[in-house]
Amino acid sequence: MSTESTVIANIGELVTNDPAVGGEAGGELGIVRDAALVIEDGRVAWTGPSGDAPAADASFDAAGRAVLPGFVDSHAHLVFAGERAEEFAARMSGRKYAAGGIRTTVERTRAASDDDLRANIRRLIAEMARQGTTTVECKSGYGLTVEQEERAVRIAAEVTDEVTYLGAHVVPAEYQGDTAAYTRLASTDMLAACAPHARWVDVFCEEGAFDADQAREVLQAGIKAGLAPRMHANQLTQGPAVQLAVELDAASADHCTFLSDADIDALASSETVATLLPGVEFSTRQPYPDARRLFDAGATVALATDCNPGSCYSSSMAFCIAVAVRDMNMTPAEAVWAATAGGAKALRRTDVGHLAPGARADVHVLDAPSHIHLAYRPGVPQTSAVWRAGVQVR
Ligand code: NIG
Ligand code: FE
Repeated sequence: MSTESTVIANIGELVTNDPAVGGEAGGELGIVRDAALVIEDGRVAWTGPSGDAPAADASFDAAGRAVLPGFVDSHAHLVFAGERAEEFAARMSGRKYAAGGIRTTVERTRAASDDDLRANIRRLIAEMARQGTTTVECKSGYGLTVEQEERAVRIAAEVTDEVTYLGAHVVPAEYQGDTAAYTRLASTDMLAACAPHARWVDVFCEEGAFDADQAREVLQAGIKAGLAPRMHANQLTQGPAVQLAVELDAASADHCTFLSDADIDALASSETVATLLPGVEFSTRQPYPDARRLFDAGATVALATDCNPGSCYSSSMAFCIAVAVRDMNMTPAEAVWAATAGGAKALRRTDVGHLAPGARADVHVLDAPSHIHLAYRPGVPQTSAVWRAGVQVR
């Protein structure tokens, strides 16, 4: 392994997410001004005032720009073929989003070759890296047979460690009317084929998909097989999913679009992160959840894209931040924290989402002087340079 070190010098605003670093002036993002950061062996070796930076083999001039931890996108569905632009257009003319649209992508995905699926996921991961995303969670869920789901998690595992088995995404056409039988398959043979390639088990617990008992069956089987649970919860209705996620100590309850006070209390008194997906509300014309209710109760909040061809075909974490600030009552600092440290918590990772010494060197140099610009200049590309595990990828 190379021992070459790089100093990123002349950082106008360094967001460390380490409260110990920034002191009073840093606030919750652990901000250091006029800073430098040293990368060595793929890790952050040092951060501090620019003038105190130790010598390194190479140097990069940040020219007064802001530097953030790489985004942690803790919710994405990237193993698929085709797209659903017409469905989006119909929604914008009034049609409602429903779980059934997933089956369109299932048909296209089943017909695709391994290499087609590989090319698509690699294209999207590269698109994300260009925008500062350095950790990506990726779900299966568009195969829905034993072979197809195994293929999806295997291909996802080629590009990320954060692979989620989502065999219980919807009931496929061939099991229509027999959700119980499909739930059994997803909890037995399909799970057994997928578990060796995955870290997580997820269920879409919703009207039109799986009810709470069926979700519990799949998640408990997944836990027995060595996977950790996370959940699609309360996307379309105020159902039982959030409470089930908390009951099972899921790492994350995702969507959280419709939350009762009891759901918020349950999240706040648990280790389950509430992962908000603003791009979904945007792309499905749903009401935005009020993140302030979650913060006021003391819940931990993450932001993720949910990048998928149906409910949100965007890979942009910056877009999520802008919408969360504009429409979900988050401050720019809260949104940037949720898109970095919050995502890491939703994946139960301690090595990413922050830039304290020892962290993986996932470094995002903005083309802006402050993290606030991510929300302040929506739609404007603002990524200047990116390192992932110490390797410059942009
Ligand atoms: O998280 N809600 C379930 N799954 C995805 C949508 C998948 C699709 O529409 O293709 C989601 O929104
Ligand atoms: Fe999703």
